[in-house]
Amino acid sequence: MVVRTADLWKSYDDGAVTVLKGIDFACFEGHSVALCGPSGCGKSTLLHLIAGLDTPDRGSVWVNGIEVDRHRDLLSLLRHEIGIVFQLHNLIPDLTLEENCLIPAVAAGVNQRVAKDRLRELAERTGLSHRRNHRVQKLSGGERQRTALCRALMNRPKILLADEPTGSLDETTGGMVFDLLLELVAGEGVTLLMATHDRILASRCDRMMEMRAGKIHEPVLAH
Ligand SMILES: Nc1ncnc2c1ncn2[C@@H]1O[C@H](COP(=O)(O)OP(=O)(O)O)[C@@H](O)[C@H]1O
Ligand SMILES: [Mg+2]
Repeated sequence: MVVRTADLWKSYDDGAVTVLKGIDFACFEGHSVALCGPSGCGKSTLLHLIAGLDTPDRGSVWVNGIEVDRHRDLLSLLRHEIGIVFQLHNLIPDLTLEENCLIPAVAAGVNQRVAKDRLRELAERTGLSHRRNHRVQKLSGGERQRTALCRALMNRPKILLADEPTGSLDETTGGMVFDLLLELVAGEGVTLLMATHDRILASRCDRMMEMRAGKIHEPVLAH
């Protein structure tokens, strides 16, 4: 099991709003899992807890068998084991595609030649080779999300968390970026956990789960 949670609770505003009410969830290596549910149901909250970006009120999260809590080296988790793609790319607009993608590799202490080779490979696979030295602000929405995908995969994470990765794109571009996302995670054996409210995209994952009233309901097999 690559990701597991047990009785995970999370509230905001000093407990005034309880978003997660006991999430028990597990996902197996190499699977693609869609986390569905309407806006505001807590999908991003759950992904943030899994990534160690926020702490639960109660309960536990394990990533690759190790509990994500305050005793763990969270930076190492984020640099080596988890890649994240957000709805809005979160790239630095003034830097080039290459510079943006090299940041996580440099932060993780990866040899620069190795990092550049990895980027060359990812850029090729995402059709961005000719864009490597362009500033992010000059790229289209689809190109930015593809860049964000490259950046997330730079350090060969085992897990990719994607939070509405195509939510800012039109349907056609979003569909293309999603195809690429599935192709890349399958090719690299990466486990994908994707939050989405798009059931058509979700149905293309190995497994679909529904978040409602702070809980995960009956995992629904997509195929
Ligand atoms: N930092 C925060 N402070 C207060 N409320 C928050 C915060 N983050 C999220 N919420 C609230 O928690 C609920 C779930 O949010 P979120 O996890 O972003 O849902 P989703 O990603 O499914 O749209 C929403 O009602 C949202 O307003
Ligand atoms: Mg969200």
